[in-house]
Amino acid sequence: MHWKSVTALALAAPASALLRFGCSQLVVVRIDPLVNPGLAPSPHLHQIIGGNAFNITMDPSKDIPAEATCTTCQFSEDFSNYWTAVLFFKAPNGTYHRVPQIPNLGFEGAKGGMTVYYMQDGLANYQQTSKVTAFKPGFRQLIGEASYRSKAQSRRFRQITYTCLETPGTRFPESMDFPTKPCAAGIMANVRFPTCWDGKNLDSPDHMSHMAYPESGTFESGGPCPASHPVRVPQLMYETIWDTSSFNDKALWPASGQPFVWSMDDTTGFGSHGDYVFGWKDDSLQRAMDSTCYVNCPTLKTQSISAMNKCSKSIPFDEKIDGWLEAIPGLPDTATQKA
Ligand SMILES: *[C@@H]1O[C@H](CO)[C@@H](O)[C@H](O)[C@H]1NC(C)=O
Ligand SMILES: *[C@@H]1O[C@H](CO)[C@@H](O)[C@H](O)[C@H]1NC(C)=O
Repeated sequence: MHWKSVTALALAAPASALLRFGCSQLVVVRIDPLVNPGLAPSPHLHQIIGGNAFNITMDPSKDIPAEATCTTCQFSEDFSNYWTAVLFFKAPNGTYHRVPQIPNLGFEGAKGGMTVYYMQDGLANYQQTSKVTAFKPGFRQLIGEASYRSKAQSRRFRQITYTCLETPGTRFPESMDFPTKPCAAGIMANVRFPTCWDGKNLDSPDHMSHMAYPESGTFESGGPCPASHPVRVPQLMYETIWDTSSFNDKALWPASGQPFVWSMDDTTGFGSHGDYVFGWKDDSLQRAMDSTCYVNCPTLKTQSISAMNKCSKSIPFDEKIDGWLEAIPGLPDTATQKA
């Protein structure tokens, strides 16, 4: 959905809530407090946005909005953390370069980061009137499986996709694996989370089984939640734009396939995943979802893009992630092995 058409429809359709907001980069670092709490370094590199309470360990009983002093998100009551893997370009000489992130349409000036959505209905249903229950303090979830390398495996997840951006406004089609041709305006990685919660557990051992997809149909078609997971929550979605434009010279591409690789050594794209640690202050998310909010949300406090960009977090962890690298951080040095 193009930003401008969302805005135009908002005027036409007095509706309930659809939040769409930008968040600048907080940090790019090899830690993962959801899957590998306490482990530094974690197995692969992540890019993280949101509140600066983000840390190697994030105890679910801690009050995240009270611990954080700033957030990189446009809605300044949102101290949640959102993260994904990091995209690299592999050059013909076997070295790797991190692909820069750029902000989405409407959030120009933000430093890298992602666009986050909380939706009550599928994007095609502009009314957005279905009632949803906001996540609770301590809630976390993961979607996607970093080790998956085939379509058969990743079919388990719905709607973890890529959009090859011909222009910054391209939104269709989406593919489950990496685009196979150069994308002039970058590759957008889309991660959509399930929308049915068991109503009891804030997390689960695999960080997924407390959540489920609708029992029949889809979130978009208004499919009902299963009895095991009866509570309908907002659909959380991340869009990350990887600016591949400086790596689009076909002379630098492998003879077969494409040159991009996720930080967990995934050249297929099927291992894409997203992590979420809820951290909205007080009842602000529920209030927003119960209000008339379309992209912008008057019931929420917002901050300027320069304030978003000022919030950062340094994790005392010394690892080179910029420039041409012999290996992706945490992975074996394949360039040297081949030599
Ligand atoms: C982050 O974690 C480190 C190591 O566990 C700890 O020393 C530090 O105080 C934590 N920082 C914050 C802001 O919580
Ligand atoms: C490897 O290839 C990249 C891209 O062409 C180039 O910028 C870099 O200098 C090369 N590194 C070495 C060690 O040759």
